[in-house]
Amino acid sequence: MPMSSPHVPERTETSIFCGGHARFTDAASVHAFHVQGETITLRHDPEVFPPSAFGLKFAEYIDFKDCRRAADIGTGTGLLAILAAKKGATEVKATDISPLAVRLADLNARMANAIDVIETRQGHFFCDYEGTFDVITANLPQEIIPPAYGSSISTLQSQAIDGGGTGGNTILLDFLEVAPKYMHPHTRLYVIVNTITDYKQTLQKISTSYEATLVWQGITSVKAFVSENIGFFGGLIDRRIVDLVEDEAGNWHAHQFIYQLTLPP
Ligand SMILES: C[S@@+](CC[C@H](N)C(=O)[O-])C[C@H]1O[C@@H](n2cnc3c(N)ncnc32)[C@H](O)[C@@H]1O
Repeated sequence: MPMSSPHVPERTETSIFCGGHARFTDAASVHAFHVQGETITLRHDPEVFPPSAFGLKFAEYIDFKDCRRAADIGTGTGLLAILAAKKGATEVKATDISPLAVRLADLNARMANAIDVIETRQGHFFCDYEGTFDVITANLPQEIIPPAYGSSISTLQSQAIDGGGTGGNTILLDFLEVAPKYMHPHTRLYVIVNTITDYKQTLQKISTSYEATLVWQGITSVKAFVSENIGFFGGLIDRRIVDLVEDEAGNWHAHQFIYQLTLPP
């Protein structure tokens, strides 16, 4: 548990959760995912981030109770937006900076018969949507990309995972700054914080702007590019920016935290 972590609630679960090796998949693939008792069938696109094992874990912990109006920021394939619709939201706004992701999310919303409820839009964070939401989900990019790896992937793929800045958390920090404008006193905002980024800075921002409930924490294996560039990440560990642990077999892991955020009273 990081030192500067905000309020820790009663209901937390700690576990080791391996299999966070999200990969971009081939265009033709269609997969069924099972989340919160719902089956969601999604098409993939090689340039759009597919739901990762940890992304599915995140989805399990979102409480859509009494949610009528939801926003999914950085929707990717549209997984969380479709889940919101299946859980009873009657208006869902799903945005992504990637035009391909928006097109794919739109297609997936159609396949789920949720297109009357889900509106997709390409752009930054909330785009030009106005008003407040009952639930906001934001699985935004949160990785530090070593230059050697960055030059081996496409711009869209990089945009899907590069969290920005030296700490890999610039996008999340910017998002945490603007999100309150779209929240009412009972809005639940769900974000992920991980120790492969400058998580202490992120937790500091959370503790000054929100009431935070830690709904899940665990350890995940890092993506292959992290292990392959462990010299680069070793420098960040030495500077105490990121925090990774190596197991006896030589595999690297990070801590992940799922937070439910509300506005302070
Ligand atoms: C890690 S993926 C998550 C995708 C999906 N929400 C999921 O859980 O599988 C992050 C997504 O955020 C999008 N993104 C990056 N910067 C963004 C921004 N400023 N505004 C909106 N979306 C953004 C990326 O294009 C990518 O699709």
